[in-house]
Amino acid sequence: MKIFVLNGPNLGRLGHREPEIYGTETLLDIEKSLRDSFPQVDILFFQSEYEGALIEKIYEAVDKDKVDAIILNPGALTHYSIALRDAISSIKAPLIEVHLSNVFARESFRAHSVISPVANGVISGFGSYSYHLGVLAAMKAALKVTKPSRLTN
Ligand code: DQA
Repeated sequence: MKIFVLNGPNLGRLGHREPEIYGTETLLDIEKSLRDSFPQVDILFFQSEYEGALIEKIYEAVDKDKVDAIILNPGALTHYSIALRDAISSIKAPLIEVHLSNVFARESFRAHSVISPVANGVISGFGSYSYHLGVLAAMKAALKVTKPSRLTN
């Protein structure tokens, strides 16, 4: 099974960026830990500061790499990127939205996600473990060969 883990703006600074909120692990630590924990999964991993680069990678992942599922931490784009949302609505692969922090327990603008309505589900607030839970959810969603629930309800 092939799973694409995609990370948006500022997540490349993990480990240094507000560690009291996001923890002390770097994005590379998270990537390594996912590879160690899920040796049976072919994990593709990418981070960008740019909305367009993330959108291009989503299309590349489904069209060229034929990934079975996507895990996306959109960073701040969560709260306003209609372009990212439109890209996600246009693909069939299941997509799990993840956040390190509990976005509902922070500033009110973080409680709203424009991505969640087009994701299969959301995992928020478990630190780097959100990504591990994301892989489990992505595996389950990918195995369900049926259309993702976001396209049927
Ligand atoms: C985040 C939460 C977002 O609100 C924030 O802009 C981020 C990180 C998280 O993982 O908790 O960059 O997505």
